[in-house]
Amino acid sequence: MPELIPVLKKDDIKRMVVQVADRISSDYQDRELILIGVLKGAYIFLSDLVRQISIPVQVDFIGVSSYGSGTSPSGGIRLTKDIEIDVTNKNVLVIEDIVDTGLTLTYIVDYLKSFSPKTVKVCTLIDKRERRRSKIKIDYACHRVGEGFLVGYGLDYSEDYRDLPEIYRLKL
Ligand code: IMP
Ligand code: MG
Repeated sequence: MPELIPVLKKDDIKRMVVQVADRISSDYQDRELILIGVLKGAYIFLSDLVRQISIPVQVDFIGVSSYGSGTSPSGGIRLTKDIEIDVTNKNVLVIEDIVDTGLTLTYIVDYLKSFSPKTVKVCTLIDKRERRRSKIKIDYACHRVGEGFLVGYGLDYSEDYRDLPEIYRLKL
């Protein structure tokens, strides 16, 4: 049985969501904002975030799949669900659960830029830095970790554990 080591409790997550929502609300005050959640991992973070952001926002989703499963990415990325809102000349904020190598987010940001949005920024719940392989700029990061495979609060290991309300490190 894999062991689950607690990393972020409900209160920690709540505090981080409130803090980042406050920053986003003030940074985008009086500007149109579209949040684009990266499926599936970001769905819980995004749903908590929209309810804390105090300015009106629109919400869309994008789906990508990186080849390979389990804990290690293998490089190739493809689009599995396209955005449905026209982001041309709009302010876009990509909402991610966790940035690891950064390759997924780089692919998504480059893809969104092809629609000529006014701005594209990035917000992640967890910034995991040790395996970073791209120079992607993360504009909003709630929590930084070095390494380890995290699950819960939307984050999965082969589709398990997304439903856990808190975040754990998986010890296989
Ligand atoms: P990247 O392309 O290596 O940055 O990987 C990003 C994607 O890999 C995330 O959106 C997650 O879906 C997945 N991922 C990376 N690290 C973890 C982790 O620790 N737990 C769960 N999923 C992860
Ligand atoms: Mg993800």
